[in-house]
Amino acid sequence: MKALVWHGKYNVSIDTVPDPVIQEPTDAIIKITSTAICGSDLHLYDGYQPAMEDGDILGHEPMGIVVEVGSAVTKLKKGDRVVVPFVIACGHCFFCSKTLFSACDTTNPDAEKARKLMGHSPAGLFGFSHLLGGYAGGQAEYLRVPHADVGPIKIESDLPDEKVLFLSDIFPTGYMAAENAEIEPGDTVAVWGCGPVAQMCIQSCWMLGAGRVIAIDRVPERLAMARTQGLAETINFDEQDVYETLNAMTKGRGPDRCIDAVGCEAHNTGGIDAVIDKVKASVMLATDRAHVIRQAIYCCRKAGTVSVPGVYVGMIDKFPLGQAMNKGLTIKGGQTHVQRYGQPLLKKIEEGAIDPSFVITHKLPLEDAPGAYKTFRDKEDGCIKVVLKP
Ligand SMILES: NC(=O)c1ccc[n+]([C@@H]2O[C@H](COP(=O)([O-])OP(=O)(O)OC[C@H]3O[C@@H](n4cnc5c(N)ncnc54)[C@H](O)[C@@H]3O)[C@@H](O)[C@H]2O)c1
Ligand SMILES: [Zn+2]
Ligand SMILES: [Zn+2]
Repeated sequence: MKALVWHGKYNVSIDTVPDPVIQEPTDAIIKITSTAICGSDLHLYDGYQPAMEDGDILGHEPMGIVVEVGSAVTKLKKGDRVVVPFVIACGHCFFCSKTLFSACDTTNPDAEKARKLMGHSPAGLFGFSHLLGGYAGGQAEYLRVPHADVGPIKIESDLPDEKVLFLSDIFPTGYMAAENAEIEPGDTVAVWGCGPVAQMCIQSCWMLGAGRVIAIDRVPERLAMARTQGLAETINFDEQDVYETLNAMTKGRGPDRCIDAVGCEAHNTGGIDAVIDKVKASVMLATDRAHVIRQAIYCCRKAGTVSVPGVYVGMIDKFPLGQAMNKGLTIKGGQTHVQRYGQPLLKKIEEGAIDPSFVITHKLPLEDAPGAYKTFRDKEDGCIKVVLKP
């Protein structure tokens, strides 16, 4: 089959690779019909995520048609149409039984490596390095789906792929980020970033009772989307001082809830911390450019909440724990427990409460994926979200 293969930093290509096969009785194989590129893929493309190997297949936002099931699969059959969550979860361990699927204890074959680095190993993820399982990803013609009875969300209506595809990741991710922000009715929520995750998060903040949403980015078309689709007020961080502006907008109190939907590749806003991060990361002395999480902690009102859907990789310097502690902030984050949100968020789409396809700016054949990575990364051609068609 054809698949998007990682060969090194900024080096991906469409290669012919062996078709996946059933390895466990609980596996299914799906033929991919749509698959997206995520901001998380950029951390792999840009060389921020360790333990990538030449030949890894990327992609973790796929959907398609079941073409084969293992002997123990009971909920899926050949011909079913499914969206596949990016988190691989067994459904029965200590964490899965608490619906903490991204903390699944059994699906990361690289658990020992991850344990050494983090203390305890998270779940395996599709297409996300040999720290998180080395599972082949879904930017391909076919995908092996482990624990097929636990993950996939069956689509029984005739909703087009574009409307349901983002149940694989960014819609649940934006929604869980808003839940983690502990929004109380009428709260002012500031969202850093206006990428696809932030756009889903803005929609979710309204669903969860926000009174005001302020979105921060510097890419004009992304800011515009936050205003028109997200009904957010916006701050362009290239033109305005974020802290001063947020304070002015909230009578000096600061936003009640702050959401970092940017993560480890935050851009430099001229702050000295951002310059140091960039230099350190470039010589491998640091793993992350952590400007946004620092700024969110600084801006958040006392006793507020900072929610972190943005992906971080390792150790960050100058983490303002003293500020967070003295202001009494709650900080929550994590890879999304996608399996928890499949059905309730599918219902919201079916009811017409949201149509997540509004973020899609580019629909391309899988063959065009290498160019699409570059276009998405460099935010060329108005690119906000790419859907690939194998
Ligand atoms: N927790 C999870 O399970 C999960 C799932 C999916 C994605 N993510 C993460 O969410 C983050 C966003 O994903 P995405 O697909 O929207 O990515 P993206 O790269 O398209 O968007 C990031 C946005 O942040 C903006 N930005 C950069 N520096 C900024 C700054 N200093 N202030 C404000 N905005 C800034 C960029 O201009 C860009 O628009 C990534 O870190 C991704 O890895 C996490
Ligand atoms: Zn993703
Ligand atoms: Zn589990």
